[in-house]
Amino acid sequence: MSTPAERLWWQNGTIYQIYPRSFQDTDGDGVGDLNGILSRLDYLVDLGVAAVWLSPIYPSPMADFGYDVADYTGVDPIFGTVPDIEALIAAAHTRGLKFILDFVPNHSSDQHPWFLESRASRTNPKRDWYLWRDPAADGGPPNNWRSNFGGPAWTFDGATGQFFYHSFLPEQPDLNWRNPEVKAAIYDAMRFWLDRGVDGFRMDVIWMLIKDDQFRPNPPNPEWQPGSSSFGSILPLYTADRPETHAIVAEMREVMNAYTDRLLIGEIYLPLDRLVTYYGATAQRADENVTDKATNSLHGADMPFNFHLILSPWNAATLAALIVQYEALLPPGAWPNWVLGNHDQSRLASRLGEAQARVAALVLLTLRGTPTLYYGDELGMLDGIIAPEEVQDPAEKRQPGIGQGRDPERTPMLWDSSPNAGFTTGTPWLPITSGSPEQSSVATQTAQARSILSLYRRLLALRRRHPALHAGAIAEVRADGGVLRYERHSSDDANPERLLILANLTADLETTQVPPSRVLLTTLLDGDGGLCEGPFTLEAGEGVLLELL
Ligand code: NOJ
Repeated sequence: MSTPAERLWWQNGTIYQIYPRSFQDTDGDGVGDLNGILSRLDYLVDLGVAAVWLSPIYPSPMADFGYDVADYTGVDPIFGTVPDIEALIAAAHTRGLKFILDFVPNHSSDQHPWFLESRASRTNPKRDWYLWRDPAADGGPPNNWRSNFGGPAWTFDGATGQFFYHSFLPEQPDLNWRNPEVKAAIYDAMRFWLDRGVDGFRMDVIWMLIKDDQFRPNPPNPEWQPGSSSFGSILPLYTADRPETHAIVAEMREVMNAYTDRLLIGEIYLPLDRLVTYYGATAQRADENVTDKATNSLHGADMPFNFHLILSPWNAATLAALIVQYEALLPPGAWPNWVLGNHDQSRLASRLGEAQARVAALVLLTLRGTPTLYYGDELGMLDGIIAPEEVQDPAEKRQPGIGQGRDPERTPMLWDSSPNAGFTTGTPWLPITSGSPEQSSVATQTAQARSILSLYRRLLALRRRHPALHAGAIAEVRADGGVLRYERHSSDDANPERLLILANLTADLETTQVPPSRVLLTTLLDGDGGLCEGPFTLEAGEGVLLELL
């Protein structure tokens, strides 16, 4: 196991996710662009994050806003050009920021030249690059597999008389990851970006890459409630988390291992015991050359994204159990990570409320492992209110009114009090949201000593400054009534430190006992430096970071 001093940039630092359409527009078309991100890099340096991750910027018909890629080695004109992204990568690096790209290997756009060829005829050399099947005996879809966006996952192609499979929209056909040519083509595209200095990839739906080779029907889900997404009516037994997936992840890792210090993140929504298998502790490759059980080396993703803080009920007992269980399940050498928001989930401040959004910031930035922060959460942004005629997201359009839409968490960043919050001089592609006092702009909150933005800046600074936070151990994790508490210990003998985190996850006063300590920070940004010992009372929805004396 590496010592703190040896830890890598992605272990020490915090990742910041940008949804490029919504961050900063510079050409007045109402959609954010790469030059806009460039113009805001200094904000990110000042905020104190270590890396930016951009949701997809590739040429795309935008059926799923860039998660339908028509060219894996280009940039969509709406965002800019390849030279623009090269300039952005260089500018990020000049400022000491790492640069992570979203990559979408599971499916392409139906407008990708590969798919246009594949659907041209049954004998086309690229036919097998996608998943084609004959109709069932009754002429319907080959089996009961469902799209994640609702409806069948099979679409009929009249010209060639077969169905093709799509985990998401019909405009997003799934690539056939059993085909060696597909793998080689995707690995080449990864190298294209790695050669241009990209420091890592966030691999979209990496746990869905392989589908059952016998196309067996998925079993029904007995817990499915009519009225919820039809995707939930079956269990994705044969369409996700297949054993063969790990060999693909190991190959991706090998592609990246040819470069120095690159990060492989996997987007994975699975229970903890399945999630941690994606670190690749027990190599599951047929190729024994990469199996190195003797040294316990890991062959999978560096960071299988851990979404369990988003998915778990927000109470002290549940979160304490979650942290303990996750830490216990990590294979030797695996580095933990935590995520609190992204472009697919309701905004943090809307899920938990404003007070708990501040407590959540404390928890995210003091747990052991890499935190990932979603743009705008540092402002306490709420879900936007999207009128029916303003809906953009295909997930909402396909299954309206049942809470599938993701537009609310994708509204433009709030920069200042100028028109459209400084996001665009044109008409924004999604409405600018306003509302709660906390949901004010970067400019307003920068001037407010106790704003949530000020809290994030303080927490990020403390995390960078204290080895116990960015590199140390976690201990004494437990719930005391409504208070989640845990300690972080530095293992640096020359500079030992022990920190105690107390997070009141309730809307009531809570009292807990503390050893002699000094207050480093409260989420209300009051009372720093105070000494305490014995009974310690937390305000409703208050968290504190203490240094044990
Ligand atoms: C996961 C992405 O996060 C989501 O936004 C997208 O719609 C699907 N994958 C399909 O690519």
